[in-house]
Amino acid sequence: MSELPVSIQDVETPCLLVDIDRVKANCRRMRDRCTEMGVELRPHMKTHKTLEGAELMTDGSKRKIVVSTVAEAEFFAGNGYDDIIYASPMVKEKLTKRVQSLASRLADFHLMVDSVVGIDGIIETPLDGDRKWSVFVEIDCNYGRTGCCWDSEDVLTICKKAHEAANIRFQGLYNHCGNTYVPDTDKRSKIQHETVANLMAVKERLAAAGIPCARFGCGSTPSCSKPIQDMSMLTEFHPGNYIFYDYMQVCVGSCSLDDIAVKVAATVISHKPEVGTLVTDCGWLAIGQDGMEREPSDVPLGYTPVVGHPELRVRGMTQEIGKFEGNGVAIDYSKYPLGSRLYLYPFHSCLTAAQHPVYYVHSGDKIIGSWTPIRGW
Ligand SMILES: Cc1ncc(COP(=O)(O)O)c(C=O)c1O
Repeated sequence: MSELPVSIQDVETPCLLVDIDRVKANCRRMRDRCTEMGVELRPHMKTHKTLEGAELMTDGSKRKIVVSTVAEAEFFAGNGYDDIIYASPMVKEKLTKRVQSLASRLADFHLMVDSVVGIDGIIETPLDGDRKWSVFVEIDCNYGRTGCCWDSEDVLTICKKAHEAANIRFQGLYNHCGNTYVPDTDKRSKIQHETVANLMAVKERLAAAGIPCARFGCGSTPSCSKPIQDMSMLTEFHPGNYIFYDYMQVCVGSCSLDDIAVKVAATVISHKPEVGTLVTDCGWLAIGQDGMEREPSDVPLGYTPVVGHPELRVRGMTQEIGKFEGNGVAIDYSKYPLGSRLYLYPFHSCLTAAQHPVYYVHSGDKIIGSWTPIRGW
C-alpha cells in the first residue's frame, strides 16, 4: 500500500474521509438501541462495503448481515462471515453458479423472494447433495418498491410453497420500509406503526395456515434510528446507512450534522466573483447528485453542506466541478483562498462512498488507515 497521508489536510482531493470516532459511536448507539428493545441487529453492508465497517457493525461477530450484491456476499463469505441475506428479489435466472456456491459453502446463506415465479424458480433449482436453499419472503408494507404486498393472496402462496418445498428452509419475513424517509415525525411514526401491524398481520395469516415463521424483521435507517415501541415485537432490524449517516438523514430527522461520519475533501480551484461563485475540484463524480431534485423539497440548494461554513451553499455541479455561492450573503473570498480546503457532507453517503476506490480513515485530523471497499456485482 502506498504511504498514507499524515493528516486530513494532506490528502489528494477529491477524496472520501471516514471519521472513525463517529462511525464507532453510530454503530454503538444502534447496537445499544437493539439490545434495549430486545431485537437482533442484522446490519446492511451496502453503504460502506468494507471488512472494517462490517467488523464494527457486527461488533466482531461476523454473523447476521445483509448484502445487496453477489460480489458483497462473496467478499464477506470469503472473509469468514456467515448468516448472510442476499436482499434482492430472486428469480431463477439469477440462481447462478456463484449463488449456488455460496449456498453450498455457508451454513446460512439466505435468498429473498417476492414472487410466485421467484419461489417456483428456487424450487426447480436443486442444490448439490441434500443442501437446501434458505429463503426469506420480502413483504411490501406499502412502500411500493419491491416485496409482495402484505395483504395479497400471493404472500400466502409464496410462504406456503417455501414452507412445503423439500429443497427450501423457510426463514420468515423481510421488510425494508424505505417509505420512512420522511421529514414529518408524525408521518414517520404512522408508517412505522402500519409497517409493524402489516407484518404481524402476515405472520398471523401464516400461523392460521399452519406455517411457522421464526423471523420477521424490518429496517431502514430512519425507522431504526427513531424506533417506535411496537418495533420491539419484531425479531430483527436491518438498517445500513446509519454507519455513516448523511445530510439526507439529517433532513429526515435520523441524526444531527455532527453524527455524519463521512465527508469529501475538496480544494478551492477558482474564484468567480463576477457570477458570485467559488469553484472546487469536487463535482458530482466525487460526491453524487442525489438531493438535487429530491424530497424533502427544501433540500436542493445547499444539498451538500460545507463543514463549518453554513454561509456557503451549492449552486451546481458538473462532473469534476462543484460551484458554491453565498447562502444569503455575498462570498468573502478572502476566507477561501485558492488552494484552500473545504469538506463537504454527502447528501447520500451510500452513493458517495460507491464512487470512491478507497476511503481514508481519520481520528481528529490524523489519518490512521484506509478502507478498500468491494466493487461490482
Ligand atoms: C432491502 C434493504 N434492506 C435494508 C436497507 C437498509 O436501509 P437504510 O439504507 O435506510 O439503512 C436497504 C436500503 O436500501 C434495502 O434495500
